[in-house]
Amino acid sequence: MTIRAVVRGVGHYLPERVVPNSEFETSVDTSDEWIRTRTGIERRHFAAKGETTSDMGARAAQAALTDAGMTAEDIDAIIVATSTPDLTFPSAASMVQDKIGMRRGFAFDVQAVCAGFVFALANANALILSGQARRVIVIGAETFSRILDWDDRSTCVLFGDGAGALVLEAQEGTGTPADRGILATDLNSDGSYRDLLYVDGGVSTTGTAGHLRMQGNQVFRHAVEKLAATAHAALDKVGLTGADVDWIVPHQANLRIITATAQRMQVPMERVVVTVQDHGNTSAASIPLALSVGKARGQLKEGDLVVTEAIGGGLAWGSVVLRW
Ligand code: UT7
Repeated sequence: MTIRAVVRGVGHYLPERVVPNSEFETSVDTSDEWIRTRTGIERRHFAAKGETTSDMGARAAQAALTDAGMTAEDIDAIIVATSTPDLTFPSAASMVQDKIGMRRGFAFDVQAVCAGFVFALANANALILSGQARRVIVIGAETFSRILDWDDRSTCVLFGDGAGALVLEAQEGTGTPADRGILATDLNSDGSYRDLLYVDGGVSTTGTAGHLRMQGNQVFRHAVEKLAATAHAALDKVGLTGADVDWIVPHQANLRIITATAQRMQVPMERVVVTVQDHGNTSAASIPLALSVGKARGQLKEGDLVVTEAIGGGLAWGSVVLRW
């Protein structure tokens, strides 16, 4: 008997405030044209004052529960992927657990920056396959607007806030790639690249939250090489190739990275879910946001083979292959 972690519901939340590229033209030396052509980003959402990562994560989780036809009482575990939790502790997941009224099970955070959702999905899959949980909510939620340096044009124009969530449930499968659910995962990190993308503050160093710092073109180079490699590694584990893929749902950092990865995987752009123009880079939230928007657009359909891939600070990168 093979157990699979199958997607039962998906949902997302975006804060109300939408900020177009043009808003940055008055504060830093940039242009709508530069941002669009170098990144594909046209606008992003920023959280309201007082609106937190767990607020957004809870809204996304509720939407995913509604989509699944379940309530918080049906859930065994919550995993939140975030690098911008409300507080140093407790976890954002504990706060989401309280906000959705879940009084049983367990909740914890995963921190792998932009690759966080992929790492969280792999953890949820492991919990389900090992029998420790039957139903898990996996959330990506971020308020990167709180760690941006508004004077640094090379980073402040790139990021946005938001949250997305999936409800996964154990289901018996046949053990073949025809099964619905998570089929393969591939996780990687290399801490020797830590200085390419980091936050210059933290509890045991400065005692402050700090600001995001990135050597963008170096990260870009790694992304183009490593994203296709991790996607191929995950597909290889179940004997599939790019030709079998119905949808790539990539981390949404830069349209040029998304396009280059699809090319390397020999998957046409018509089979790639792209939301970067509307959300910017929402770090760990970007993949579940894209899954939710992709379903709402009618792109993702039951039975489709979906590949998600992401890279970010660490460097940490990985991929999940699942049948929707
Ligand atoms: O999600 C986590 C992982 N992160 C990523 O995947 C991000 C990966 N990196 C990228 O997406 C791209 O590298 C960026 C969008 C960050 C930058 O694009 P790029 O084509 O790699 O540009 P660059 O950093 O090589 O900079 C090119 C030029 C520089 O000027 P000079 O030195 O050529 O005169 C920058 O100073 O563009 C300049 N520049 C800007 N100009 C206008 C940098 N930021 C801006 C800006 N507006 N906002």
